[in-house]
Amino acid sequence: RPPPVFPSTGLDKMPKQENGQREDSLMQNDLSESFEEEVRAFLGDEEELHLFDDLTKVNPVTTRTVLRCLQARYGVNLFYTNAGCSLVALNPFQPFSCLYSPELMREYHVAPCPQDLKPHIFAVAEQTYRNVQKQMDPVNQSIIVSGESGAGKTWTSRCLMKFYASVAASAPKGNETVERIEKRVLDSNPVMEAFGNACTLRNNNSSRFGKYIQLQLDRFHHLTGASIQTFLLEKTRVACQAPNERNFHIFYQITKGATAEERLEWNLPEGAEYRWLPNSERNLDEDCFEVTRGAMFHLGIGHTTQSNIFKVLSGLLHLGNVQFSNPVDESHPCELEDKTKEFVRSTGDLLQIPVEELLESLRIRTITAGKQQQVFKKPCSRAECETRRDCLAKVIYARLFEWLVLVINENIYTDPSVWTSFIGLLDVYGFEAFPENNLEQLCINYANEKLQQHFVAHYLKEQQEEYAAEGLQWSFINYQDNQNCLELIEGNPLSIFSLLNEECRLNRPSNTDLFQTRIEKALSSNQCLSRDKFSKKPNFIISHYAGKVCYQLAAMVEKNKDAVPPELLHILQNSKDPLLQKLFPVTEKNQNNSKAQNRAAVVTVVSKFKSSLEHLLEILNRTTPHYIRCIKPNADCKAMTFRREEVLRQLQACGIVEAITISAAGFPVRIPFQSFTERYEILRKSWGSSKERVRDKSSSPPAEKKVMDDEQAPRAAVLEILQDAARGQTPAQETGSGAGMPSVYCGRSKVFLANSMLELLEARRAEVLNEKAFCIQCCWRRFKEKKTAREKRSATLIQAAVRSWLAKSRFQRMRRAANVIKRVWRRWNAKATALAAAELDEGEGEEFPAPGAALAKAPGSLDTAWPLQSIVQSWPVGLVLAAAPAGVTGSRRALAQLRCLRGLQEGSGGNSPAPRCGIASVRALPQGSVKFHCRRSPLHFADVSPHREEFPITGFNQILLDREELLPT
Ligand SMILES: Nc1ncnc2c1ncn2[C@@H]1O[C@H](COP(=O)(O)OP(=O)(O)OP(=O)(O)O)[C@@H](O)[C@H]1O
Ligand SMILES: [Mg+2]
Repeated sequence: RPPPVFPSTGLDKMPKQENGQREDSLMQNDLSESFEEEVRAFLGDEEELHLFDDLTKVNPVTTRTVLRCLQARYGVNLFYTNAGCSLVALNPFQPFSCLYSPELMREYHVAPCPQDLKPHIFAVAEQTYRNVQKQMDPVNQSIIVSGESGAGKTWTSRCLMKFYASVAASAPKGNETVERIEKRVLDSNPVMEAFGNACTLRNNNSSRFGKYIQLQLDRFHHLTGASIQTFLLEKTRVACQAPNERNFHIFYQITKGATAEERLEWNLPEGAEYRWLPNSERNLDEDCFEVTRGAMFHLGIGHTTQSNIFKVLSGLLHLGNVQFSNPVDESHPCELEDKTKEFVRSTGDLLQIPVEELLESLRIRTITAGKQQQVFKKPCSRAECETRRDCLAKVIYARLFEWLVLVINENIYTDPSVWTSFIGLLDVYGFEAFPENNLEQLCINYANEKLQQHFVAHYLKEQQEEYAAEGLQWSFINYQDNQNCLELIEGNPLSIFSLLNEECRLNRPSNTDLFQTRIEKALSSNQCLSRDKFSKKPNFIISHYAGKVCYQLAAMVEKNKDAVPPELLHILQNSKDPLLQKLFPVTEKNQNNSKAQNRAAVVTVVSKFKSSLEHLLEILNRTTPHYIRCIKPNADCKAMTFRREEVLRQLQACGIVEAITISAAGFPVRIPFQSFTERYEILRKSWGSSKERVRDKSSSPPAEKKVMDDEQAPRAAVLEILQDAARGQTPAQETGSGAGMPSVYCGRSKVFLANSMLELLEARRAEVLNEKAFCIQCCWRRFKEKKTAREKRSATLIQAAVRSWLAKSRFQRMRRAANVIKRVWRRWNAKATALAAAELDEGEGEEFPAPGAALAKAPGSLDTAWPLQSIVQSWPVGLVLAAAPAGVTGSRRALAQLRCLRGLQEGSGGNSPAPRCGIASVRALPQGSVKFHCRRSPLHFADVSPHREEFPITGFNQILLDREELLPT
C-alpha cells in the first residue's frame, strides 16, 4: 500500500471536466511523457498483469493500465477484481458453476479473512455480513449492484441472495408447514423475473423494474424475513414492444407451457398468433413456466389463483388482437375489423366483462360538462380507441404486478420486532440507450444517474472534501460529477421533469414541437442538454454519465400523465372475475371520484418515481454501502469476448479509475474520535495498567503534556489507543498525526484508517474481547461452582435434619412400643413366675396333663384377665426380650430389645410365633428334671442372657435355648 498522502497519478494532471465535454478519452489526458514511460513499463510485463487482483496496486492507475489488467484477468477466467471501495465484476456470458457453488460459499464464509481470498461477490457478501455481526455503526448494510443493461446485476443479486440464504439460514423449526423463509425469499426471484423481465435488444433477461430487497436478520444474524420494494415497472411493454424485443416473459411462458386443458380454459389454441407476443419463435431459458408456477405455489399463490392470473393474461393477449377501423363518420363509433370481433368476445369472456360494455368503454368517451353536470357521449377516434385498448391492458398488468409484490411481501414478511438489522440489495434496471427512447428510458437512466451520484458523493467528493477539512495533506483528484446532469433532469425550478409536469397540469393538447422549444429555451444554459438537429422527430439529448441518449418527445407527456379513462376503471370494477375484483376494488372514493380526480393535482409518473427514488436514497444513506460494478464486456452478449472500447467506456463512465486512485492513496475508513474511542477504549485498558500509563505520561516531554487540554483530549485518547494497539506491530513513534503508522491519520475530528489498520484494530479488539469473555467465563464458573457447593452443603444439612427428625420420631415410636412391650413383659413375667411357682408347689408327684390342659384351668391366684394361653404363647417374646444385653440401660436397651424382636420375627418367618417358637406349657417340658436341675421353673431361666459365650448355659436351659430361631441375631 502506498503512503497516505499525495497520489501521484496522471489523473491529477488532468483539467477538471464537466459532463457533456467528456467525449475525449481520459487516455488522451495522460499528459507527461515520463508518465507514458511508467505506463509502458507497467504494461510491458504482460504475463503478470492478471495477478493484479486489487486495482489499487496497479501503478500508475490509468484507464489504460486498469483496462489491460482486467482484460488479462478475463482471459484467464478471473471475472472479479477489487477496485478500492468497489468490486468490478465482468460478465462472462457463460455459466461457470464452480464460481457459485455451495462449497465456495462456505469457503468464503468460514475464512478468517475473506478479503485475503480471490476477489469475489461472496467476499463482499461475507464482509457485509460480518459488518452486521460487528454491530459497527451504521449496522445496516446495502450492496448496490450497478452497471449497464446486460452487465449482470440481476445475476449477481441472485447469487448474493443464495449466499445469504445459505450462510444466514434460519434454524429449522421441526415440522414446518410452510416453506422455509430462505426458500420463499429465493422463490420471489423467478416470479418477479417472469412478470417483470423481458428480452430487449441489450439483454435477453432485462429487468423492466427496479428492485430493492431488504434481507432482515434477527439478533443471532439469521435470516428471518425480507421485504421487497419495486420501482416503476415499464408497463408500456405489455402493449408496445420495440422491433426485435419481446413482451414480458410470463406471456411466452403461458403460451408455450400450458397443458391441453389449460389451453382450452384460457382460450389459447396452439399456434395462435398474438400481436402483443412478438418473436415468440425465440426460445429462451427464461421461458420456464413450471419454475414460475412452482415458485408461485411456494409463495402461497394456489393453483386456483394462478389459473385466474393466467386467464386474465390470456385475456390481455386477446385484447391485443382487437383492431379498429375508421368510422363511417365522426358521430359513429369506430368499426371493428371483422377478424377481430372474435377476440373482443374472448377478451370479454376471459376478463368476465360484458362484451357490449367492453366495446363501449373502448370506443365511447363520456364527458361531463355544464353547471348541471350534463353527461355527453362522444365516439373516440381510431387512435383514441387504440390508446384506450392499450391503456386497459397496461393498467391491468401494472395492478397485477403490484398485487404480486404485495402477496410476496406478505409471504416473506416478519414483524419488525423480530429483526434487528438488514442487508439491502439494490438491483435496478441498467443504463440503456435504444434507437428510440422515451419516458421509460428517461426514468431508468435518471435512476442510474442518482445511484452514480450516491457513489460520487460517498466516495469521490465527500471523501476528498473531508480530507481537506480534516487537515490531511491531499492533492485533489478530479472526478466526473454528474450533479449538472441531475439538475437538468430533476432540478428546481426548471428541469425536464418540472416542464413535463407543468405540461400535464395545463391539460392542453400536447404539441411536441412547442414542447421541444420550451425545453430548449428554459434549459439551454445546461451543458448536458442538446438536440439531434438532423432528426425530424422532436427530441432532446441528455449527456448522461454513461453516454449521450436521445429522447423522443412524442407521447412523453401522455405517458407522464398516465391517466386511466374512468370508463375503463368502471368496467374493471364491475367485472365478475375474482382477481380483477381484487385488483380494482369498488370503494366509495372510486364511485364518485371521476369529477374530483380531474380537478385534483395530477400525480405524474416522474414525480412518483422521483419521490420513490428519494426515499430509496434516504435508506441507502443510512446504511454502509458496498458497490459492485458490473461491466458488460461486449454489446452482443457473446461468451468470453472482451471488447476494450466497450469496457473502457463503462470504466470511464462510472468513475472507477478515480475511485481506485482515491482508494489507493486515501483512507477508506473514517471514524469520528468519539465513536473510535467508544469502540476501541477496550484496547487502551487492556495494554498495561493505568498506573503504567500515568508513568508514561509523566515521563513524556512537557510539550506533549500540553496536548492533554480539553480540546485535544479526544485526539490524544485516540492516539494512545492506536499506539497501544500497534504495540508489537510497528515501533510507536508519535508524530502527532498518524501515531507513526502509515496507515493511520488523525485529523481534527476523525481518525482515518487504511483497511489493514482497521483489520488490525478489529483483530486486537476481538482478542481482548476473547480474554474478557474468558475472564467472565472463569468468574461465572467459579461463582457457579461456589453456588453449587453451597447448595450441596445446605442440601446435606437439610437432609441430615430431616433424617434425624425421622429417626427421632421413629425411635420415639419404637420406645413407646418397647415400653408397652416391657410393661406387658413384666406383667407376663410376674404371672409366669406365679404360675411356675404354683405349678411346682402343687404339681409334685402329679401326672402332667395333656399339653395346654393345665393352663386351661388356671389356679385361682392368677388373674383371669390374662388367659394362660396367651401368657404361654408370648413366652418366646419374653425370652427374647430377656436376651437383650444385660449391661445396657435406657434407650439403648430398648433398641437392643427391638433388635431381638426383629430377630424373633425373622426367625418365625413372619408367621405367628406361637405354634413354632413357643412351648405349649411348662408341663410339656421333661418332668422332674426341671426340679432336679434348677429347683425352679424353667421360666425363671428365661430371664437369662442367651449369649452362650458370656453366660454358659447348660442343661435344660441349653435345651431351651438351642432353639436357634429364638436366639437374637
Ligand atoms: N456471472 C455470470 N456468469 C454467467 N453468466 C452471466 C453472469 N452474469 C450475467 N450473466 C449472463 O448475462 C445475462 C444478463 O445478466 P443480467 O440479467 O443479470 O443483466 P442486468 O445487469 O440485470 O441487466 P438489466 O439492467 O437489463 O436488467 C444473464 O442472463 C446471464 O446470461
Ligand atoms: Mg436485471
